[in-house]
Amino acid sequence: MRSIDELTTPAVMLDRVRMENNIRSMQTACDSAGVKLWPHIKTHKMVEVARRQLAAGAAGLTCAKLGEAEAMLPSGVKRLFIAHSLVDVRIAPRLAALADQLEELRVAATSVTQTEALVKVAAAAARPLKVMLAVDTGLGREGVRYADYAKRIAALVKASPYLTLAGIYTHEGQLYAAEPATQQARVDEVLDRLATVRDGVDPKLPLWPGCSVTAKLMAATGRVQVVRPGAYMFGDLSLAVTTKVMKRDDVAVHVLATVIDRPEPGLALIDAGSKVFSSDKTAQGVFAIDAEGRDIQVLRVNEEHGYLRGTDVDLLEVGDRLRFIPAHICPVINLTDHVTVIENDTVVDCWRVDARGRVD
Ligand SMILES: Cc1ncc(COP(=O)(O)O)c(C=O)c1O
Repeated sequence: MRSIDELTTPAVMLDRVRMENNIRSMQTACDSAGVKLWPHIKTHKMVEVARRQLAAGAAGLTCAKLGEAEAMLPSGVKRLFIAHSLVDVRIAPRLAALADQLEELRVAATSVTQTEALVKVAAAAARPLKVMLAVDTGLGREGVRYADYAKRIAALVKASPYLTLAGIYTHEGQLYAAEPATQQARVDEVLDRLATVRDGVDPKLPLWPGCSVTAKLMAATGRVQVVRPGAYMFGDLSLAVTTKVMKRDDVAVHVLATVIDRPEPGLALIDAGSKVFSSDKTAQGVFAIDAEGRDIQVLRVNEEHGYLRGTDVDLLEVGDRLRFIPAHICPVINLTDHVTVIENDTVVDCWRVDARGRVD
């Protein structure tokens, strides 16, 4: 067993116990509300994490891309939802091969023109596919806004021998910017919009909303059948500080970095920049904060440098090692080949990021 003191930096460290607690907490919230959990794997991209989500009781997995879905097969997953607008008939052989290894494959219908293309993809794949109708509930991305338009998509799906309309979904990512005190009201608004479209198409269709900010609130309403949070088992600044849906001490992934220079008073440089933290920052311009709670923030990044500012920066010396909570965890994982799994301060394993770069 190695201590984390022996790691070279930068290192992306995953606290196994915290992650398992976060997985259990979401699963328990879903189980006690009678709601199914289909976690989105775009955050972790790791078979080892998917296995633990499924073992805890997840009913299926959600992916953004076909490549992610393929990479998750060794987890033993049997039900998958590709929540993305598939349009290219060239993917048909891969879609067919994927479907052959699953009990259930769900795909997204996001507009009339995309569904027309999806019908052709499904015909070329020649496999039965369940279709989830996307509704835009305020993010301004894909999905229908009105029931009449949704009916046109439903008619296209019905006319295909391979497609069956099986549910309504939305990604309410705009709630990341909602004031914590207004989250419940915003959740109710999202559900009203979702239900209005659903009732215009088929009132029996299940509702599948639920990101990491909203999933527990959504499940508790009793109005939804499935939730699909992604980042909840790791956490980041968006979840622990901006939206406050988890505690800072429950964040399971930290970036370990070393102070490599002190060019001027009030400034320290670390060996982790945009190739570790990505270019994603909070609305306040913060790429990462010190995980120990000192006033130390990464306020600027170059590829291999992070610029530390804050009232506690002058306490730092070259060679000091710090743990950081990144602003947005998804790209941090996608930028690393493996994560170092730790328990307390001991290294217990090293997991490959299996779907790293699988944007295909
Ligand atoms: C379609 C879809 N579903 C679910 C999620 C999961 O969201 P989060 O990582 O905020 O939990 C996302 C995130 O981008 C998404 O795009």
